[in-house]
Amino acid sequence: MTTVGIDKACFYSSHYFLDLKTLAEARGVDVEKFYTGLGQRKMAVSPPDEGVVTLAANAAHELLKDVDLSTIDTLMFATESGVDHSKATGIFVHKLLDLPPHCRVVELKQACYSATFGLQMAMSRLRENPKHKVLLIAADIARYGLGTSGESSQGGGACAMLLTANPRLLSIDPIAGFYTEDVMDFWRPHYREEALVDGKYSIEVYLKALAKAWEHYQTQVIEAKQPDSQYQDFQQFLFHIPIPKLAEKAYQKLTKLNKSPVNTTDAQAFLEPSLQYAREIGNCYTASLYIGLVSLLENHPDNLANQRVGLYSYGSGCMAEFFSGTIQPHYQQVLHTQFHRNLLDNRQELTQAEYEKFYTFEYPTDGSHVELPEYQTGQFRLSHLTDHKRVYQKARLGATAKAPGKLILSGEHSVVLGAPALATSIDLYTTTVISKHSLPGLVFDLVNIKHQNTHSAEALKLLKDKIKNKYTRFQQGEISIKQVLKKPFELAAYTASNAIDKFTQKEPKPNLHIHTDSQIPTGCGLGSSAAVIVSTNLALAEMLGKTPTEDELKALNIDAENLQHGQSSGLDVFLSMTGGTYYVQGETKTRLPHWGRKITLINTGTPTSATGECVAHTKAIFNQKPALLNQFAEITEQMHQAWQAQDLKLLKQAIKTNHQLLIQIGVVPDKIQALIEQIESHGGAAKICGAGAISGHAAGMVWVEGAEDFVKTLPHEILTVTPTEDGAKIV
Ligand code: HMG
Repeated sequence: MTTVGIDKACFYSSHYFLDLKTLAEARGVDVEKFYTGLGQRKMAVSPPDEGVVTLAANAAHELLKDVDLSTIDTLMFATESGVDHSKATGIFVHKLLDLPPHCRVVELKQACYSATFGLQMAMSRLRENPKHKVLLIAADIARYGLGTSGESSQGGGACAMLLTANPRLLSIDPIAGFYTEDVMDFWRPHYREEALVDGKYSIEVYLKALAKAWEHYQTQVIEAKQPDSQYQDFQQFLFHIPIPKLAEKAYQKLTKLNKSPVNTTDAQAFLEPSLQYAREIGNCYTASLYIGLVSLLENHPDNLANQRVGLYSYGSGCMAEFFSGTIQPHYQQVLHTQFHRNLLDNRQELTQAEYEKFYTFEYPTDGSHVELPEYQTGQFRLSHLTDHKRVYQKARLGATAKAPGKLILSGEHSVVLGAPALATSIDLYTTTVISKHSLPGLVFDLVNIKHQNTHSAEALKLLKDKIKNKYTRFQQGEISIKQVLKKPFELAAYTASNAIDKFTQKEPKPNLHIHTDSQIPTGCGLGSSAAVIVSTNLALAEMLGKTPTEDELKALNIDAENLQHGQSSGLDVFLSMTGGTYYVQGETKTRLPHWGRKITLINTGTPTSATGECVAHTKAIFNQKPALLNQFAEITEQMHQAWQAQDLKLLKQAIKTNHQLLIQIGVVPDKIQALIEQIESHGGAAKICGAGAISGHAAGMVWVEGAEDFVKTLPHEILTVTPTEDGAKIV
């Protein structure tokens, strides 16, 4: 006969947990009652945007990574936490997993037992037709009510199993023993979110049903003349695990029934590998037995190949089944051990208040639209409820945006007073990667300024208000622009916190990791701050699922850019957002044809004066000599023509004249003037690009055309950039 069984199994549980010592303190109970008395250490707690659908989809997503989805013809979803009285919960999962339309979906219910029924149904089918593949998912969230005696035995999780012929994990035998009795040990009327339970009685029935199901199994074994299925033939036993202690008691009961009783310590030691995950997660109802199986296979120190396993499945109400199987020879090759360990090792512990907040979250029952706060829910989340419908979606795990730097070719300073400018985006980029983070607040990882730190939402709000206040004081002439941002990190902090406030009114604010890395040298007039701002705002919008208009993004970008430059002309932000080369006249920006020539830049170092200071200085000069503005306009026009005609000779002439004008407005330090004279004496042309400097010896970038051999001898950093057509984008 064809061997059938579980080919692979994988579970998923919440990213959040409550340590039972926290619960014990809150309820005034000795923690040892939970740790030792129940054998339970932690319980998984689901945030409002998680539920059986997302837990199940996450487990199956990992399970099916290397499986051809078109081969799965049935999805059985076993749960007692279904989200609809009519529609099968698994249909939501079917969509999230992109399963084929010819895959049937059905929901099964009988308390914690139904997954076992699903398993056996699939086995019968596979024995008849070994080509089929069945996805069986058991998923539940155990809820008993705050302050009830069942509270400490809550938990939640899903176990996804691929059921096939010739399975690689566990083959399932054709015979099984059953026991059904109408009892009210645990139940949940339709109108309740929490189960009702007669705790002590439920334990009694669980153990009684074990004896009855085992007895029936033995009669089946004898009838079927099934070899290797007497008590002594089993090397492993697995039990439904409402609390680990009960599984230990069940094992003791079974050993006693078979006249080889073991003591409590031996029972605990024997079952320990199968109980390890349950101690961390809590009761997962339908999934518990199967998470126990995964736990055994992943945590037992020995190679269990070919060992016989007896399994006890129990569902209150009650229905019990004892069945059996054999661990397959190469089972270790199909385990998801690392996935499970990572899942459990990287969870976030909740305080009692946080747990109760999750627990008491109220979903609308009147059909109103509610967007759910975003927590860590793996690959999928419940996004919103609207019109009595639940909307699930793939969770946004991260967003990456890239924004280019810029080069002012002509018209720096004069542009602030309305003269034209010629500027281009260049192929140096700032990349911002946003991902979810489990710790509260924002984690900044700003590579270029070597800033790595976590900032709480409260701290960021305070910082943002402080910076805004200082900017107002700058506008009133009380402080200089250099005093507005105290540390380089503050620009990124302000940008992110401002954007998050604009994009989401929801509390709590999302916990995010913001990683920014830039190829653009800072403080050299190449638009590094604009690129940081633009890439951060764009990545945040994407991450938070927002689609702001160009104008909304621009306003956010300029708001942050002002902190750096006093009164931003908006040009750096514009170029970073759109890419391309532009002739700019007031609000009119004319895109020029792409001239993909390499531009050589000499980095003369960061100017000691800020852009804002230079702008203030040149404004005064333009006021004194208004004719200079026209001269700047003319030279920009000449350069514009040179660019359009791609005329290098005309371009060089324009650069020389432009340089002379920049000297007249006092932004070219003596040392830089001397350097440019040398370049000119070697047949080249050069000018500063950007604000320049009104003090010190450095003036940021100097653009050089020609004099290549001389430039090579200079001690400065030499950069070669190319105008780019690409503006900021999500990558
Ligand atoms: P409880 O009344 O809170 O606890 O209920 P307790 O007083 O029975 O104490 C528990 C154990 O801790 C006892 O050990 C105490 O002695 C010990 P035991 O005597 O049983 O061996 N203890 C201590 N140990 C060390 N230091 C201390 C200390 N204090 C006490 N200081 C109960 C516990 C499980 C009943 C409760 O959590 C509950 O009602 N849970 C929900 C129901 C349940 O899990 N039932 C299990 C069988 S039914 C089932 O499995 C089906 C189910 O999964 C649902 C489904 O089918 O869908 C639930």
